[in-house]
Amino acid sequence: MKIVGISGSLRKASFNTKLLELVAEIGSDHQLEIVPLNDIPLYDGDLEEAGMPASVTALSGKIRAADALYIATPEYNFSTSGVLKNAIDWLSRDRDPSMPLGGKVVALGGTSAGMSGTSNAQAHLRHTLALLGCDMVTNPQVLVASNYEAMVEPSDMLKDLIGKQLAAMEKRVKMHAAMG
Ligand SMILES: Cc1cc2nc3c(=O)[nH]c(=O)nc-3n(C[C@H](O)[C@H](O)[C@H](O)COP(=O)(O)O)c2cc1C
Repeated sequence: MKIVGISGSLRKASFNTKLLELVAEIGSDHQLEIVPLNDIPLYDGDLEEAGMPASVTALSGKIRAADALYIATPEYNFSTSGVLKNAIDWLSRDRDPSMPLGGKVVALGGTSAGMSGTSNAQAHLRHTLALLGCDMVTNPQVLVASNYEAMVEPSDMLKDLIGKQLAAMEKRVKMHAAMG
């Protein structure tokens, strides 16, 4: 599979970006490209009217060309990060030639400092992405709590879970291919 990976955290030492890197490592049979969101501006209708920002069209193009999208989200105040929601808002506005998220196979993972392991953030994301027409891979869920411990030396259980999630994504991508 050709997968685009995005992290909802911009910081260099982000545990969520580290989680994406782990997904890329476990899915080394696939091609996972991590696209940073640092250059995506805050959504502004005036900016949009002046022409889609190049960073947005670059991201849209990569997602359109990919079989699937993997999103690693932090949990901020019981929801996803503003950075991620902002990027999704831009992606929902780029419809030339089609909305990049429409019908896309999407899997979520996330890691937080608290005990939720980003379950609240992922629930909110799933709601938005499902309404945008994404084909959400919901089983298994990759929720990593207490990241300051869990992400230092990721457990075999987590690696196994990610392997199963990638297999579920591949199954879905193959179904899409078979349906034409
Ligand atoms: C604004 C803000 C809100 C946060 N809210 C939560 C929260 O609701 N639940 C939680 O478990 N952790 C929360 N945290 C801690 C994050 O889970 C933790 O900083 C995490 O490592 C951020 O992801 P990153 O390492 O990818 O940057 C919050 C952090 C920030 C900065």
